[in-house]
Amino acid sequence: MRGSNARAVILHRLRDTEGFTSGQALARELGISRPGVWKHIEAMRAEGYEIEAVPRLGYRLVSSPDVLSAEEILPLIRTKAIGRRILHFDNVTSTNDVARDLAVKGEREGTVVIAETQGQGRGRLGRAWISPPGGVYFSVILRPVLPPGRLANVTLMTAVATAAAIREATGVDVSIKWPNDVMADGRKIVGILTEMLGEADAVNFVIVGIGINANTDPRQYPQSVRSTLTSLSAVLGEPVDRLALAAAVLQHFDEDWTRLGRGQFADVLQDWRRLSSTLGAPVRVSTVRGVFEGTALDIGPDGELIVAMSDGRKCTFTSGEVEHLRSA
Ligand code: BTN
Repeated sequence: MRGSNARAVILHRLRDTEGFTSGQALARELGISRPGVWKHIEAMRAEGYEIEAVPRLGYRLVSSPDVLSAEEILPLIRTKAIGRRILHFDNVTSTNDVARDLAVKGEREGTVVIAETQGQGRGRLGRAWISPPGGVYFSVILRPVLPPGRLANVTLMTAVATAAAIREATGVDVSIKWPNDVMADGRKIVGILTEMLGEADAVNFVIVGIGINANTDPRQYPQSVRSTLTSLSAVLGEPVDRLALAAAVLQHFDEDWTRLGRGQFADVLQDWRRLSSTLGAPVRVSTVRGVFEGTALDIGPDGELIVAMSDGRKCTFTSGEVEHLRSA
């Protein structure tokens, strides 16, 4: 049995058993020797698991590390496509880059790349995404049958899934600012970066990168962005369970991705409307064509923002940066 699978089985057994699990029983179940079991236990200790070993009694799990590994997440999710394979790293440049390299080599849809930190996390519009420990940073490989023009649907869906999951897992009252920023207390908590490889009329693959400021300290960010960002732990005044959070996001993502696959984007948009703080708010929209102010009225069938200008005209925006002129 491959190392990580064996460790997943050992972890499951240790968690399931009150008291000690015998090394003999583990060896039998895994079809390996007792020294083989011991090797896995040592490897797990090196990963931060505290495991007590007592001669003739066996092993007992004392505590688990705060890591978003496949062994930890898989038992918490019941997904069809998303996260059936999870690759976990301590540090990468960008999970989007690792996922893209895998996708180029043919990695299947649904594979998730997670990292504890990123050295060169990327944001939208060429910005950096600062990724200190305590955040949740991951990318999902998708192979949608969609024309490239419909990519915004995937990003909006991701915002819906992430916002709903954060509410469910942490109770924080987050909302979506058009098109896909997840906010709390008027500041950004989540960033989503969707990238794709494709041709004019067909998408080869899409990488959806999600960064959640979970247990990060806003003081870890440069002064220039500090006033625009916050974290879930800063809002709550206590750390959140990153594992439960990551699992909830994958679960919601899987469900909403299934809805998209069934052609139910209108339903996803309905959830977007419910979760959004932009609709009804006075907004300033900065675009390449200029800066516009008005009241956000609705989101159109492809995710475009419909704004009522002060002169009564209606304007539709397919891209741009939105600022809420007072918190809605
Ligand atoms: C934004 O600018 O709002 C988008 C930020 C996206 C950050 C995530 S973190 C995981 C993935 N890897 C990256 O380098 N970026 C995305």
